Amino acid sequence: MNWLDVFCHPLWAVSTTLLALVVRLQRRGRWDPRTCNVQLKGKTAIVTGANTGIGKFIAMDFARRGARVILACRSEARGTAALTEIREKTGNADVHLRLVDVSSMDSVREFARRILDEEKALHILVNNAAISGFPRQITKDGFEISFATNHLGPFLLTNLLLDLMKRSAPARIVTLSSVNHYRGEVDFSHFKGDNLVHHMDTVYNHTKLHNIICTNELAHRLQGTGVTANSVHPGVVMTEVMRNYSIIVRGIFNFIGIFFFKSSEEGAVSPIYCAVAEETEGITGKYFDSDCSLVLPAPLARDAALAVKDFEVCERLTSKL
Ligand SMILES: NC(=O)c1ccc[n+]([C@@H]2O[C@H](COP(=O)([O-])OP(=O)(O)OC[C@H]3O[C@@H](n4cnc5c(N)ncnc54)[C@H](OP(=O)(O)O)[C@@H]3O)[C@@H](O)[C@H]2O)c1
Repeated sequence: MNWLDVFCHPLWAVSTTLLALVVRLQRRGRWDPRTCNVQLKGKTAIVTGANTGIGKFIAMDFARRGARVILACRSEARGTAALTEIREKTGNADVHLRLVDVSSMDSVREFARRILDEEKALHILVNNAAISGFPRQITKDGFEISFATNHLGPFLLTNLLLDLMKRSAPARIVTLSSVNHYRGEVDFSHFKGDNLVHHMDTVYNHTKLHNIICTNELAHRLQGTGVTANSVHPGVVMTEVMRNYSIIVRGIFNFIGIFFFKSSEEGAVSPIYCAVAEETEGITGKYFDSDCSLVLPAPLARDAALAVKDFEVCERLTSKL
């Protein structure tokens, strides 16, 4: 008998279906946004990368709760499509599009300037926009593009909006990291593209580790201000996140994903939990798993001395731009 015959056996189909069912049931978090009655009327929220994937569903939830929502997107066309959809589905007209390319420090500064000019308050900031599997490229600021998009841009944006958030307290900062941070490493030469191996998600993993390290240090610095900062893993989610990978890798991801991965709406649950739930009020400097539970991040993400250094390096890199 050929070992491949096992895949033709009816038991194979039955056990795969059962496994897929179990995984599907398990991927429902322990918290359901639909049963959470928190209203956000009078609150303002910004979601970066809100035109698709997880970010769109986070913004949709905030809009349903009555918030003034700012979709921070880089493409006017994609952003406008999401804006129209969110306004139509939620009936909330107080949803707005503001353009920003988070990989460009000039663009982040321009965006933040506009927000500070136009908004009286900011209660929720969700750093969601990110890229994965992007080939090596150095931005005009001299940063490796994945580091600029996933970490340095959001880092600068958060810092530029901090005073407004402190004045609006209680306020929450939620940064989408990933379970992949466990495979990340810290080497400050990475920021400028040195000593990096561009293979699959290697660079992405480093950036997601920096997300947690700097969010923890930010939380430490924000003690007593009423502004909290947490990181969250949304789960493995069927979005456009694999768009920069080869067609084969995307094909495998999408095929397995049909059975086992979360939808974008399901992926938005743990970030929404961090951003709005009463249960997470006052919690800061923590890392949430995709089922909304608090878990310990990787040891490097818990190293307080490293966090101070990382934060200072990022401040230095972004402050002069
Ligand atoms: N999907 C997963 O399995 C997974 C797992 C763990 C963590 N996450 C995290 O979840 C977050 C959302 O990911 P996703 O899966 O929803 O990804 P996605 O579908 O690829 O969406 C990413 C969003 O970020 C935007 N974006 C990318 N580069 C940008 C830039 N330079 N400036 C402004 N916006 C930019 C994209 O805009 P365009 O449409 O214009 O490109 C898009 O709106 C990310 O932080 C990711 O690391 C995802």
